[in-house]
Amino acid sequence: MNNNIVDEIKSRCNIVDIIGRYVTLKRAGNSYKGLCPFHNEKTPSFVVSESKQFFNCFGCGESGDVISFVMKAENMDFHNAISKLAESCGIDMDKYGFKNESKKNEIYEMNRAAARYFYKNLTEKPNIGFGYMKKRGLDAKTIAKFGLGYAENSWSGLTDHLKSQGYKEEFMLQAGLISKSKNRYYDKFRNRIIFPIFNTRGKVIGFGGRTLGEDGPKYLNSPESNVFSKKNNLYGLNLTRQDINNNNYAIIVEGYMDLVSLYKNGVTNVAATLGTALTENQCQLLKRYTENIVLAYDADAAGQKAALRGIELLHKTGLKSKVLHVTDGKDPDEFIQKNGRTAFLELIDHALPYADYKLSVLKQRYDLSTSEGSIDFLKAAKEMLSGLSPVEADVYIKIISKETGISEGAIRREVNSETQENREIKINRSGSFNQSKGNKELKDETGNITLQKYFVKLLAVNPKYMPKIQKYESVFTQPACYRIYESMKNIWEEDSDIDIKKAADSVSPEDGEVFQHILDNITFPQEVDTVFAECIKTAEIEKMTARQDKILQMLNLLSENEEDKIDVLYKELMTIQSELKKTGN
Ligand code: UTP
Ligand code: MN
Repeated sequence: MNNNIVDEIKSRCNIVDIIGRYVTLKRAGNSYKGLCPFHNEKTPSFVVSESKQFFNCFGCGESGDVISFVMKAENMDFHNAISKLAESCGIDMDKYGFKNESKKNEIYEMNRAAARYFYKNLTEKPNIGFGYMKKRGLDAKTIAKFGLGYAENSWSGLTDHLKSQGYKEEFMLQAGLISKSKNRYYDKFRNRIIFPIFNTRGKVIGFGGRTLGEDGPKYLNSPESNVFSKKNNLYGLNLTRQDINNNNYAIIVEGYMDLVSLYKNGVTNVAATLGTALTENQCQLLKRYTENIVLAYDADAAGQKAALRGIELLHKTGLKSKVLHVTDGKDPDEFIQKNGRTAFLELIDHALPYADYKLSVLKQRYDLSTSEGSIDFLKAAKEMLSGLSPVEADVYIKIISKETGISEGAIRREVNSETQENREIKINRSGSFNQSKGNKELKDETGNITLQKYFVKLLAVNPKYMPKIQKYESVFTQPACYRIYESMKNIWEEDSDIDIKKAADSVSPEDGEVFQHILDNITFPQEVDTVFAECIKTAEIEKMTARQDKILQMLNLLSENEEDKIDVLYKELMTIQSELKKTGN
């Protein structure tokens, strides 16, 4: 790091101004005082000296200059803190020639040399990589376009080559090209097809390698570093961004091979994520070239899950998104090889826009032939609808109405009256036991947590309660409690008994902690059987109130001409309400 930039920052950024952005400072004699941002305090002991350009907290002892303040406050490293400050006071960092920048450039250069080496391995001598590429439908032109390569099945091929070019092993290690074990260096990529990864400025930032054997993971990627970051880059974008811009949409795929294969078959407005879910930074990167994204993920469940996550993120980022469904083969690569470009473009024509896609996913989850299924479907769709513009929402309300048979008016009321039902139905959810405080270990608090904990403890004390508790298992709405209950149930079903240690061992360590906490902290104020009876009573009430909620909701949504259904529901509601009255609820 060039010292000059540090001096320049210190002379141009007044520490009082910078810290003043984080902390309210008041003048106190020669200096300024405020509440320390690094520890909790009620009276100010955090002092900033303008003349010394220094801060000091007399409470926690934190002290330093403006750079160390930003590092600490923003949790940044030195380099990033400098960048931030330089930017905020208009200093041109390039002028000071960061040492880090030049080291980065050296790594780019070495990576380029490595890529060239891999490329030559693939194209200039006999090797099994080339045959594999041909088998996968790639030709010499595509190989050259992407600079694909082959890493030989050798522990030192690349190391030796780069050494001969004057690079040090320590440096190769830093760049993630080689690894070190027991003081010996060895090539990281062996017997793999190599995909060099470029950033949009055309620098080789890292590599992905597909195995040709059985060793290690199918794809091995360069390790994360300040040169290579998966979440900030997309594979292929250096070659495709112009076409993305021209077509005004980008197709996003999951795999290197999907990208190369689409490109080879004439679909060139594509980019691939690098073995992670789509990230916010990648969305921002894409936004520079287009606002329209088509997700073309694998046809399997994992791919569909990723698509759902991705489309949600794209929607949040303000990008218009669609999801394409691969109808033949497991991924876009297989599809286009079998069916060709035109067929793939047809898939794009049929890709579902955000709202349609979400509705199609929800429709698979609920049974729309029953009113209960329709109500649950609507509840789930409500959230999605409220994220749309009124005009868009209107379109989808019409669609939903058609599909569920619920009137448009009722859906609109439901979507617009978020908390109404909560206000109408006031239910005492705490049951017979007071809701205990200090439930910190149960972050996701849903339903009657106390009851769930009591049930878990009761089962631990006396497994014979299982059959009865099973009838009320719908009370287990808190995820950890549910999983603990499930594992106890499994053990009960096998052993007709529950060994607590076995139960604890069969859940995750996190759930194990929750389990232990319950065992330690739930104590019975009365005899166990009495407590059990009380709990069952509470569970019965829970069950009835839940059913009551649901009936009220269904009644709300049924239209007047569905008299017979309304009739049945009212009868059930009255029975439940009189039962609840008996219990004093
Ligand atoms: P897939 O397993 O779907 O592979 O991984 P693929 O693209 O169909 O590969 P081929 O066709 O068998 O060659 C998709 C992507 O996930 C990442 C890679 O980026 C890969 O392209 N991945 C996969 C990894 O990073 N590591 C792995 O072990 C597997
Ligand atoms: Mn594939």
